[in-house]
Amino acid sequence: MTEVSPRALMSLLFNGAKAVDVLTTALDLGLLDELEPGPVRLADLAERHGLKPLRLYKFLDCVESLGLLRREDGDDIGDTQYRAVPGLREAVVAGLGPDAIERDRDRYPWRLLHGRLAGSLRGEVGMTDDDFAWPPRTDEQTASFESSMSLGLGPVLEVFHRYAGRLWSGRTRFLDVGGGAGTLAASVVADVPHVHADVYNLAAVGPLVEQTRTQCADPARLGFVAGDFFAEPLPGGYDTMAFVRVLHDWPADVARRLVESAYASLEPGGQLLICEEFRTPDRLAMQFFWSYFLIGVDSCVSRLREVSFYTTLLEKTGFDHVEVLPSAWELVVARRPA
Ligand SMILES: C[S@@+](CC[C@H](N)C(=O)[O-])C[C@H]1O[C@@H](n2cnc3c(N)ncnc32)[C@H](O)[C@@H]1O
Repeated sequence: MTEVSPRALMSLLFNGAKAVDVLTTALDLGLLDELEPGPVRLADLAERHGLKPLRLYKFLDCVESLGLLRREDGDDIGDTQYRAVPGLREAVVAGLGPDAIERDRDRYPWRLLHGRLAGSLRGEVGMTDDDFAWPPRTDEQTASFESSMSLGLGPVLEVFHRYAGRLWSGRTRFLDVGGGAGTLAASVVADVPHVHADVYNLAAVGPLVEQTRTQCADPARLGFVAGDFFAEPLPGGYDTMAFVRVLHDWPADVARRLVESAYASLEPGGQLLICEEFRTPDRLAMQFFWSYFLIGVDSCVSRLREVSFYTTLLEKTGFDHVEVLPSAWELVVARRPA
């Protein structure tokens, strides 16, 4: 993808709804299936899909203006060759398709801020606890939030699955701290027959974890420990603990205290795993919704940090063997010395 100038970006932003229309149409018509492997001739594409070549040419200009298509002009427009950037089809499905995470996010009451951002920045407009409380207050808010979290867990499940052999060799007791409704714990239970996984979370989340437990591969190996990590030390008896998308919810000093609390509670020789969207320009962009929405929610810090913040913090806390395992979302692994 090429970078566009700020001026060009303004035109794209203003026409964002039309751009979404173009890309979903390209997906629905099956054009992306041919454009992505490419190269494909305009005349052939038009004929195979029953489309008018000149109209298709303008349509593909729209896709190209988004930086998503490469084009080689022929003398005749019919001879123009196209190839989409790698991964475009998958990205359109993930970002704009019927099950896109953005559609789930859209149901949150962001419109309360829309057009009133200046007032919000001055502190005059914000979310009430009825609109969105952090952490969630009511059972309904809890269920709704945890279901959104589970929807976005794909890259986390992927990295835990990918490194399962190495993570769980010689490890048997896993505590997923702030482990949502237990989706990750259930996935570990399914992947690794010798691990018992407990979810540590606020008591209100217990019924959701229970639902996950009854549907998981081995319910006897998935448990729930109700607790509040601000009110008590983390429970002991675990050789592995994880913070998945938990630390970025809190200011640096709180994140530090949570990591120290995990250090104190882990078995000697135990490991701490940290996984979330470590800050990169791409991930910040994909987090745009929450950055915007949480402007109105003072209790949630929402701070994507570079991975180096965590590796440094872990070393300062006393962990050793601090490693960053590569994946779509990296997994940070650190060991409490034996
Ligand atoms: C952003 S969610 C991440 C959930 C899950 N780890 C995931 O990635 O899908 C943060 C989690 O921290 C939990 N949490 C918030 N405050 C907590 C507290 N004081 N004690 C224990 N868990 C807490 C929330 O209930 C929620 O499950």
